[in-house]
Amino acid sequence: MAVIPVALAGRDYEVHVGPDLLDRTMELARPFIEALARPRKVPVVADREARRYHGERLERSLASGGREIAWYDIEPGERSKSWAELERLTDWLLSLGVTRGEHVFALGGGVVGDLTGFACAILKRGCGFVQLPTTLLAQVDSSVGGKTAINTAAGKNLIGAFHQASLVLADLSTLETLPPRELRAGYAEVLKYGVLGDTAFFDWLADHGAAALTLEPEALEHAVATSVAAKARIVAEDERETTGRRALLNLGHTFGHALEAQTGFSDRLLHGEGVALGMVLAARYSARRGDLSSQDAERITRAVDAAGLPAEIAALGLNCTGAALVEHMLHDKKMAAGTLPFILLRGIGDAYLARDVELSDVAAFLDEQMRAH
Ligand code: GLY
Repeated sequence: MAVIPVALAGRDYEVHVGPDLLDRTMELARPFIEALARPRKVPVVADREARRYHGERLERSLASGGREIAWYDIEPGERSKSWAELERLTDWLLSLGVTRGEHVFALGGGVVGDLTGFACAILKRGCGFVQLPTTLLAQVDSSVGGKTAINTAAGKNLIGAFHQASLVLADLSTLETLPPRELRAGYAEVLKYGVLGDTAFFDWLADHGAAALTLEPEALEHAVATSVAAKARIVAEDERETTGRRALLNLGHTFGHALEAQTGFSDRLLHGEGVALGMVLAARYSARRGDLSSQDAERITRAVDAAGLPAEIAALGLNCTGAALVEHMLHDKKMAAGTLPFILLRGIGDAYLARDVELSDVAAFLDEQMRAH
């Protein structure tokens, strides 16, 4: 098991990465469980599927400490990150009498983590929560760093708060029940950490990424722990995304967001798939500007393709113009005061925030990409 500290003054916490951690929840999360006066039940908000696969293990572990669970089920899917679900969940937590010094547990992927985290941020002006992420994407990205949110008609994640968990237990065994396509989509975020800031990790993934994707224990633990450590470092430097450092984590996301929006945020393109293809586009656009060598852009494309992730926008068969995709980007919340920042690359492991990108140039580039290949 790897233990990665997230160093935030006064709110530092640990992310544990390893197999079978849910079976050890009582031992690893004891202080947070014991804070709840007996005989009250431990509140666990769970994705319905995650509860089906892993609920019993969690129940057994807590039972070893004489504790029972009060379950709250969430329907899988982004639609659960809604005002209506937030209202139901906070009402439920209030009905249990959860207080500020107590902790709520979130079992599932990004949807459950984001919704529960936000509910905990506003419940009595903030109670504690523990993340038990069960998807690769949640383990390497959304469960770490304190971004919590719901979606509204105006867009995704537009209502939310920074609220850090008190502990994250990333149980690698949960990935065994994850559909392969979702595993690959989560792997896009793993690859992202190599591309944005760690050449050695990028090279390691070229040799061992396939083993991680087949859940070979050592390779998987190294891939997840290295990703979490990269994210923890960046979050500790720029928790609220004010210096531009944390914005680097959005590599691939501006292009990816446009593709997700154009495909209706549907199964046609999962978030991680959009990020993977977005990363290729960011690399190729960086090469087109003369910032990145075409060889490095090609290596990134090959890494995405080798993981079974989409690397060519033309293959999506989008029936739109580059300008229409740029229009989607403008609706992304990352747009600051009229400029659209892009995360671009000077090399593999060397991402930077570019504020001088001409949107007409991006549209022309996307038109070229949609015609090419
Ligand atoms: N997923 C990007 C961030 O946490 O900042």
